[in-house]
Amino acid sequence: MKVAEIRDIGEYVGGEARMKGWIYNIRSSGKILFIILRDGTGTIQCVAEESVIGEEPFEKASGLTQESSVEIRGNVVEDRRAPGGYEIKVSGLDIIQLSESYPITPKEHGDSFLLDHRHLWLRSSRQNLILRIRAAVIRYIREFFDNRGFICCDTPIFTPNACEGTTTLFSTDYFGDNAFLTQSGQLYNEATAAAFRKVYCFGPTFRAEKSKTRRHLIEFWMVEPEVAFADLDDIMVLAEDFVAEITQRAVKDFEEPLREVLDRDVDRLKKVQTPFPRISYRQAAEILKDKGEDFEFGKDFGGNHETVLSEEFDRPFFVHRFPAAIKAFYMEPDPEDPSLSLSVDLLASEGYGEIIGGGQRAYDLDFLKKKIREDNLSEADFQWYLDLRRYGAFPHSGFGLGLERFLTYICGIQHVRETIPFPRLLNRLSP
Ligand code: 4AD
Ligand code: MG
Repeated sequence: MKVAEIRDIGEYVGGEARMKGWIYNIRSSGKILFIILRDGTGTIQCVAEESVIGEEPFEKASGLTQESSVEIRGNVVEDRRAPGGYEIKVSGLDIIQLSESYPITPKEHGDSFLLDHRHLWLRSSRQNLILRIRAAVIRYIREFFDNRGFICCDTPIFTPNACEGTTTLFSTDYFGDNAFLTQSGQLYNEATAAAFRKVYCFGPTFRAEKSKTRRHLIEFWMVEPEVAFADLDDIMVLAEDFVAEITQRAVKDFEEPLREVLDRDVDRLKKVQTPFPRISYRQAAEILKDKGEDFEFGKDFGGNHETVLSEEFDRPFFVHRFPAAIKAFYMEPDPEDPSLSLSVDLLASEGYGEIIGGGQRAYDLDFLKKKIREDNLSEADFQWYLDLRRYGAFPHSGFGLGLERFLTYICGIQHVRETIPFPRLLNRLSP
């Protein structure tokens, strides 16, 4: 008999099913055992009675421990009171392995204990849901771009260049040369945009940033669209369509578990509709000043400033035209005030902070050469990038969305570390 998956168990009502999984929970009441079986696709209550399965098998089953692996066979019945709506009347049970005493129990555990046991923690219902939403969001993201004629161009992880600044580069030996782990696929996507017009990359990104906040990972996933002949306004329209569509798909597919397992205020997510508010950096600085925040014009926002700004809005909002001095070398200067750049960040509401960074790319060869020198980058390494300004230079724009920060917002959770299967943090490289 084929092994049934719990998510499809409705198809077996009235008949027999054979399942393989792990013991999520077990309790006994006299000659009856109530087992919650978990198989990775769902959980289901299985009721085993001694009078049905026999004395010896019942005794063995009574000794089952949390997370033991088992095969269970039985009749599938509809039961409104059972969680999930179905129940198994057990006819047979085989133990695959009797688990040792499982370290994660239903009682409360500290953060570092759970992170040390991340390889097991993934089995819990909350972690399972968050990572299930992650997988779905990755799918929505790819579909969003694929359906709009974007070409997926994967960019390299080993690179010779800095993209977002030299202070956060991981360097590694590349057969005697120095290579860096990528901070962003953007520079390469500027090249592929000239070949395919609309492109995106979606892959792991590395930042050797000594930040120990709930928004920082050392290794995170970023999706980065790049569009030939798009300007700053065009890319803001793309970013808001993108964030609104992905958020609404997540709401549609996960409304009930978001509310029930993660206690997410889904009504606030439903407000994530276009258009998103747009304010300039200058306006943002004024808002902060009016609210009595300690903020100096010309500086980057701290996490607290982002939280204060987000209180003004009921949905994500753009902050555009940051001072050129605090942005990367590749930003196009604002023609109306060259001390500013045609850059944009999207800040999530509810204090979740920056989820997107992007802007219009510098177009002029001499300007870029000057910026590369000023930033102490090696012009030789950037020759291929400068070629894009020599051979059919084209105005273009793009952005990068940090997958884990976006998921933290969608799930309404406190820390990015729960949104990736094995988080890499400042002081954590294992498991
Ligand atoms: O603002 P960033 O550094 O922008 C870039 O890398 C551009 N080259 C992207 C582009 O225009 N193609 O990073 C973009 C986003 C941030 O808004 C944030 O969501 C996420 O990447 N991010 C991080 N997420 C988790 N941990 C970190 N340490 C992150 N650093 C950036
Ligand atoms: Mg940024």
